[in-house]
Amino acid sequence: MKKILIIIGSPKKNSFNKAFAKQAMALLQGHATIEVLDFHDLPFMSPDLEDPRPDAVNRVLQKVQEADGLWIFASEYNLGPSAYLKNLLDWCSRPISHHFEDGTYVTGKKVTFTSVAGRSAGKYVLVALNQMCAYMGMDIMKEHQTGVGLEQADFDEDIPHFREEHFLMLERQVTSFLAFISQ
Ligand SMILES: Cc1cc2nc3c(=O)[nH]c(=O)nc-3n(C[C@H](O)[C@H](O)[C@H](O)COP(=O)(O)O)c2cc1C
Repeated sequence: MKKILIIIGSPKKNSFNKAFAKQAMALLQGHATIEVLDFHDLPFMSPDLEDPRPDAVNRVLQKVQEADGLWIFASEYNLGPSAYLKNLLDWCSRPISHHFEDGTYVTGKKVTFTSVAGRSAGKYVLVALNQMCAYMGMDIMKEHQTGVGLEQADFDEDIPHFREEHFLMLERQVTSFLAFISQ
């Protein structure tokens, strides 16, 4: 079975993106090996920390390298990813050896994106992630990226009420991503 690494790009404990990722994982169950990436202890990326890299960084990069596909669930912070997620991506973009020609931990890595956000339905963070990850040489699934726009009431209650249309988009993304990583 192919390995999918789920990346929750929100630093929030009661993350709405995490809640939606759980729905995706339920759909993926039995079709792929799934793991949620734990990257809470990554230091802020700085070239000063690269030689040698801290253990936490090596552990995370190894998980990324071993995966057949990454599925990123991202909150939208001021039209882009949270600093928490951006930091992970910055670490992933560094060369495996000392030379960029040898590739990075995500060169050619298959990836798909989902965002649970406010009124924008995450469309801006999806644009930002597409741009960044293309720059990083990742193999992006261009179709069926899902953006979920929640209502003010969801934020007031701090409970995401996902609707039928959201689950339909998620099912479509699951099917497409399983096919995409099998190519
Ligand atoms: C600093 C900050 C900036 C935000 N900027 C946006 C934004 O640009 N667009 C938007 O739709 N929601 C924005 N929000 C709302 C978040 O998208 C929303 O809280 C988050 O996506 C919910 O997902 P999470 O619980 O997984 O973090 C922002 C929230 C914070 C804390």
